Amino acid sequence: MSDPQPNSRLPSFYRLSLDERQAELARQVGLSADELALFASGGMTATEASGVVENAVAVYALPLGLGLNFLINGVDRLIPMAVEEPSVIAAASNAARMVRAGGGFTAEADASLMASQIELREVADVERATTAVLAARSEVMALADRALPRLCQRGGGCRDLQVRALPDHRLVVHLYIDCLEAMGANMVNTVAEAVAERLVELASARVGLRILSNLCDRRLVRVACAVPFAALGKQKGDSSKPADDGGTLAREIEAASRFAEDDIYRAATHNKGIMNGVDPVVIATGNDWRGVEAGAHAFAARDGRYRPLATWRVEADALVGRLAMPMALGTVGGTLQVHAGARLALRILGNPGARELAQIIGSVGLAQNLAALKALAGEGIQRGHMALHRRATGTAD
Ligand code: MEV
Repeated sequence: MSDPQPNSRLPSFYRLSLDERQAELARQVGLSADELALFASGGMTATEASGVVENAVAVYALPLGLGLNFLINGVDRLIPMAVEEPSVIAAASNAARMVRAGGGFTAEADASLMASQIELREVADVERATTAVLAARSEVMALADRALPRLCQRGGGCRDLQVRALPDHRLVVHLYIDCLEAMGANMVNTVAEAVAERLVELASARVGLRILSNLCDRRLVRVACAVPFAALGKQKGDSSKPADDGGTLAREIEAASRFAEDDIYRAATHNKGIMNGVDPVVIATGNDWRGVEAGAHAFAARDGRYRPLATWRVEADALVGRLAMPMALGTVGGTLQVHAGARLALRILGNPGARELAQIIGSVGLAQNLAALKALAGEGIQRGHMALHRRATGTAD
């Protein structure tokens, strides 16, 4: 029997007791009591952990909450978020509610292309070597495919070859592998080692490093949303920067975006706010958040200047947000094989494929950014964000 389609609009969820919230989750997603109980251990036992890392002594827990109100490409999603920072989940849910009023998030993701890098050193003649490698493009790509027979059977495999020159008689060859549902680190590392010898021959060079690149700039997610002024709403409290209507607040949020676009110090914090939304879902779904972080920040600085991953503009009577960032994720293999909690998190999300998961996580990042900028542009982060947290946890004073 297939799982029910959850409703992510659960306005009184925060008022329920913990037991009631768990029961509501089970009802929305169709989880049995046994499945729900898997969360009691954090999704992984210490015994299981000792089969995963060296010198294991325990498992380390994080709070897991549900991001609500998310409508992404017309589909309601409950968002599992593993995070210790108060206010993050409440803020994301609040922003998703405003975005919902404008039709939700529109997201698209590239194919799961990962670059395998093979560094060639002491290249005798860089120009000749480049020509030789490019002339052997089909042969080298076929060699890469032969190293990944099962991936190729499933429809993945090598899609492109690129040669880049570096200083000091070095070349770096990129092989772009479509890893389908896998994050793909092991696959592209296998490819790098499988083709290196042939590349060394072709280039008359000495082999250097053979490893994936975490700057997955051909594996991007792009998300957009338009928040109607009316949904941005009035600010509560006696702010020193009162925003009398949604339009004023929207222009303040655009100004906050421009600050990040013009200043690297602000851009770092702006992007941290985005990662506040991205990382908790990456972690909950058992993905490599260090890889996603490395890719995000390298992409932010791709033209030599560190930039915000999301920007905001006032367009007609709406605030329009756009995000683009690399998103290398897997929905099979890796941690998922050993982490029942991560499998359950994917189930809560409706068992998306890797590209769909990227669209979901990009949307959470954009929502988190909107929440932070709205609080900063309006009543300030302490008053705005933390008030949401107190409301969500019932600790309002
Ligand atoms: C706090 O964890 C994140 C923020 O600083 C992000 C931002 O300033 O945009 C609120």
